[in-house]
Amino acid sequence: MTTSKPHKTEWFDNEAFWRELYPFMFPAQKFTDAEEQVEPVLKLTRPTGKAVLDLCCGPGRFAVALAKRGFRVTGVDKTRFLLDKARAKARAAKVKIEWVRADMRDFVRPGAFDLAISMFTSFGYFDEKRDDVAVLRNIFTSLKPGGACLIDVVGKEKLAKVFQPTSSERLPDGALLVQRHEIFDDWTRVRNEWTLLRKSRSKTFRFHHTIYSGQELADRLTQAGFAAVKLYGDLCGSAYGPDARRLVAVARKPKNP
Ligand SMILES: C[S@@+](CC[C@H](N)C(=O)[O-])C[C@H]1O[C@@H](n2cnc3c(N)ncnc32)[C@H](O)[C@@H]1O
Repeated sequence: MTTSKPHKTEWFDNEAFWRELYPFMFPAQKFTDAEEQVEPVLKLTRPTGKAVLDLCCGPGRFAVALAKRGFRVTGVDKTRFLLDKARAKARAAKVKIEWVRADMRDFVRPGAFDLAISMFTSFGYFDEKRDDVAVLRNIFTSLKPGGACLIDVVGKEKLAKVFQPTSSERLPDGALLVQRHEIFDDWTRVRNEWTLLRKSRSKTFRFHHTIYSGQELADRLTQAGFAAVKLYGDLCGSAYGPDARRLVAVARKPKNP
């Protein structure tokens, strides 16, 4: 079931944002990384069946890698451009995947999945905290009893330690990407401005999202009904803390919710 309530237009609705930044966000190495990260993800989450939801699947890095291992994958994303990329990747890998174009606030399929994943900072996009909780409730409802959920984001503890207001880097296609960041709302959110300089033309994209500490993310998951929430510092299950590469939360829907 996918309900479609009207949502106000936000930065992530801008297809040009994902299209223009695609070479930076999704170079070939990112697809290789996902192939390698799938086994650790399965080890951390121990799904009891084969039905997987890849929420905000983007170009299908994890969806395709999971389907290659025999999982029945549903990839959900809002961006047409990225779903087209995902379809092409699945065709090339000769795997069948169900692709659904939907907002993560709307996608619910009660009791359908053994595992739900949200990878590479795809959570925390909404201005209203209750929308983030609504997303977690949708995931909770969409899982079978005993099903597992994994959320992978950048943790606040790490960000506080390494925060730099400005940085720049050269992209594989020769463009220069200048990033500016500002923390706001009492250290709960980050506002980013990314300027792409390509062949003496520049394009600027602005976006913002919530930054979760380990405890805050665990609390949101508990609020949504999850039990047995565990935090890790990467997908291989290292300890979470200020030196962790990522904030990875694994939670389970109780067998008798
Ligand atoms: C940083 S990308 C990560 C993609 C993918 N999880 C991966 O690991 O490659 C974030 C994804 O979230 C999707 N997205 C953003 N806002 C969304 C929303 N409200 N509903 C559904 N998908 C959304 C974007 O289209 C994009 O594919």
